[in-house]
Amino acid sequence: MVVLAPFPPRRLPGLSDAPHAIPYQGSKRQLAHAIVPLLPPDTARLLEPFAGSAAVAIAARHLRIGDTAEISDVNEPLMRLWQRVLAEPVALADDYERLWHEQLADPKAYYDAVRTRFNQTHEPHCLLYLLARCVKAAVRYNRDGGFNQGPDRRRLGARPAAMRTRLAATARVLSGCRAYTADYADVLSSAEPADVVYLDPPYQGVSQARDHRYMAGLPREAFVARLREAVARNTSFLLSYDGLSYDGPSREGDAAERTYGDPLPAELGLLHLHLDAGTSSQATLNGRHTRTVESLYLSPALAARLGGPDAVHAALTGPAAGGSPAPR
Ligand SMILES: C[S@@+](CC[C@H](N)C(=O)[O-])C[C@H]1O[C@@H](n2cnc3c(N)ncnc32)[C@H](O)[C@@H]1O
Repeated sequence: MVVLAPFPPRRLPGLSDAPHAIPYQGSKRQLAHAIVPLLPPDTARLLEPFAGSAAVAIAARHLRIGDTAEISDVNEPLMRLWQRVLAEPVALADDYERLWHEQLADPKAYYDAVRTRFNQTHEPHCLLYLLARCVKAAVRYNRDGGFNQGPDRRRLGARPAAMRTRLAATARVLSGCRAYTADYADVLSSAEPADVVYLDPPYQGVSQARDHRYMAGLPREAFVARLREAVARNTSFLLSYDGLSYDGPSREGDAAERTYGDPLPAELGLLHLHLDAGTSSQATLNGRHTRTVESLYLSPALAARLGGPDAVHAALTGPAAGGSPAPR
């Protein structure tokens, strides 16, 4: 395993106008700047099986890297929302607009009513509204699988016109891509040699309701076993896993380094990169300058496809790769 030093994220000018449709806690929109340069130009399909808001698939398609992308997630209502974003963005925008205006008389009571309705029907536009309005765009479920996150009382959610533009742009960028509900293990085992799989599992230890499948943390042993099989099959994959935060000196002058999550076993032979994910705004408010450094692992097959560790480093720090979208 090779560990490269942290480096500041390089902004790809070509991603400055990449769209996003679904607000989602843990979105990799920022890290996508460091991830898409690691997709080989001959990528057939980019598979994103922990899709959430599908930030990496959107970035890759926006830059026209690879032939196509497939997004999937175990959260079925979320994937039904994605299917609607791709199939009928205009009708979805109409439904969102109606909910947004109807809420104005009593936003709190209206949010609660939509949440109750979503838990009964799983209608995609209700989930879009809830994600736009809930605290930190964080999907939270109770033990019975009911969405139970509360509303952010300071915000009403993206304005209908902005949401309409985002939905249309995202559907355009992801045109021709598949969206489906699946467990990541099935997607990973289906990858062909020319594909690349981007894995962004829930972090270790962030499980909320252990008995519900959307929130259950991934059992580590089973996850490592699936990775071992994928390495043995020469699957090209990238994996975001665990992280590290460095606390700069606080007002009192103390400094600290915190880690969370255990590193993956060296026997997998993964190339381990540290990506600087920037400062935490909460920490800055508290008078600290915390930088979060995220781990990104590359499978041996992908590292070899890119030309080895030095070429990987050059792809991340050099001027050209993934810098601007190819003409459509
Ligand atoms: C950290 S989020 C991914 C965020 C995403 N990269 C983005 O940019 O928005 C992790 C996702 O994994 C999903 N998930 C959890 N367990 C899963 C499993 N066994 N198979 C597939 N998806 C799973 C969750 O529903 C959640 O959407």
